[in-house]
Amino acid sequence: MGLNILAILLPALILWPSRTSAALTVDPPTDLQIIDPGHLGPLHIHWKAPLSLTSEKSCMVRYMLTYCDVDSTNCKRIITRQLKHTDGFNLNKGVIVKVRTLVKEHCDGSELKSDWMEMTYWPLIEGLADSKIKNLQCIVYNLEYMDCLWKNGANAPNDTDYRLYYWHEELEQVMKCNNYIKNQGHKVGCHFSNDSLIEFSDFNICINGTSRLGPVMPTYYTFQLQDHVKPAAPYEIKMTASKNGIYLEWKPPAGKIKPHCLEYEVNFSGKNTDWESKVLPEETTSTFLNITVKTKFCVHLRAAVNMYCADDSVWSEWSSTQCLRDYPAEEEHTIIKRNLFSELILLTALASISLTLLVGVLACWVRWKRSFSKKKVNMLLTEETKSINERNCLNC
Ligand SMILES: *[C@@H]1O[C@H](CO)[C@@H](O)[C@H](O)[C@H]1NC(C)=O
Ligand SMILES: *[C@@H]1O[C@H](CO)[C@@H](O)[C@H](O)[C@H]1NC(C)=O
Repeated sequence: MGLNILAILLPALILWPSRTSAALTVDPPTDLQIIDPGHLGPLHIHWKAPLSLTSEKSCMVRYMLTYCDVDSTNCKRIITRQLKHTDGFNLNKGVIVKVRTLVKEHCDGSELKSDWMEMTYWPLIEGLADSKIKNLQCIVYNLEYMDCLWKNGANAPNDTDYRLYYWHEELEQVMKCNNYIKNQGHKVGCHFSNDSLIEFSDFNICINGTSRLGPVMPTYYTFQLQDHVKPAAPYEIKMTASKNGIYLEWKPPAGKIKPHCLEYEVNFSGKNTDWESKVLPEETTSTFLNITVKTKFCVHLRAAVNMYCADDSVWSEWSSTQCLRDYPAEEEHTIIKRNLFSELILLTALASISLTLLVGVLACWVRWKRSFSKKKVNMLLTEETKSINERNCLNC
C-alpha cells in the first residue's frame, strides 16, 4: 500500500517541477531589426512582441536589450517596455544586439526570462582600406571654433580627395564640411565655426573620399565636444616676492569657458634650471609658492578644463614666461640693511634722549641743590629771628 502511493507520488514529484517550469516559459521577441538612419552613428533597433504572449496572460511585459561592438566585452544593458531603442554606435565595426522578453505571469510572482534573440549588424564599410584616413584629431579652441585634422592613409593614391560629413541631434540631415583645411592642395582637415558646435551631445563624423583607384573606406568618429576643449592661455601673471616665497596671480583665459571649469598647471624654475610643476585642479586665480629663491626665478602656467566640467581636456599653450631676476635675494638684503639702519637711528635717538635727560636732570639737581641751600640759610635765619622774637615775646 505504502509502496503503491510512493510509486504514484514519486514520478509526480519528479515531474512536478519540470512540468510547471515548462508551463511558465516565455518566447523571445520576434522580427529584430537594426536600421541605420544615415546619421553616422545612431542606429534604431526594433523588435516585435512574441506571438505567444496574450495580453490577459501577462501582468507586465518588458524587454532586456544588450548591445556592443563585435570585439568588445563592454556591453550596454537596458530594460524597456518599448519595442524600439536608439543609441549611438561605432560604425567602423560590426554591432551585436540581443533582446529577450521578461514577463511576470502573476503580478506578485517571479519574473520569467525568454531566450535571447540575437543579431549582428555590419555597417557598409567598403572602399580602399589602405587609403582611409589616420589619426583624426578634433580640438575645440576656447569653445570658439573647432579644427579636425587627419593624416593621409598609408597607401592613399596621390589624387585621393577626402570628404568630411558630420551630424548631431540638432541637424535634420548630414552636413558636408564647408571649410576644408588644405596642405599643398590636399584636404587635411576641416574647420567648424561656432554655429556648428554643440556640447553634451554626440558629434558624429564620417570621412570618406574618392581616388582614381576607387572610393576610400569611410572612417567614423563620435565624440562630445566638451571633452576636446583647449582653452586659451592664462595671462597677466603677477608675482610678489616675500621672504617666505612667491605669490602668483593671473587672469583666466578670456572667452566662453566658465572660470569654475578651469584648472591650472604652474611651472616654475627655482634654484636650478629644473622646472618644477604644481597642478591646481580647482577654480582659483592665485597661488603661493613656498620656496626660497636666491637666483633668477621664472614661471609660466597653462589651463585646461577640469574634471567637474568635462571628462577630458587639452592643455592650453603655456602663458608667456615671467622672471624675477635676483629680486627676492635683493629684497632680503635691503630688509637687513633697512633693519640695521633703523636700529642705528633708534639707538642714536635713544642715546641723545638719555643724554639730554641726564644733562637736564643734572642741571635741575644742581639748581635745586643751590636753591635748597639758600632756602636752608633763609630758614635758619627766620628761625633765629623767630626765636629772638619768641624770646622777645616771652619777655613781653
Ligand atoms: C600621381 O601618380 C601617378 C602615377 O604614380 C603620376 O603619373 C601622376 O603624375 C601623379 N599625379 C600627381 C598630381 O602627382
Ligand atoms: C561618404 O559618406 C557620405 C555620408 O555617409 C555619403 O553621403 C557619401 O555618399 C559617401 N561618399 C562616398 C564616395 O562613399
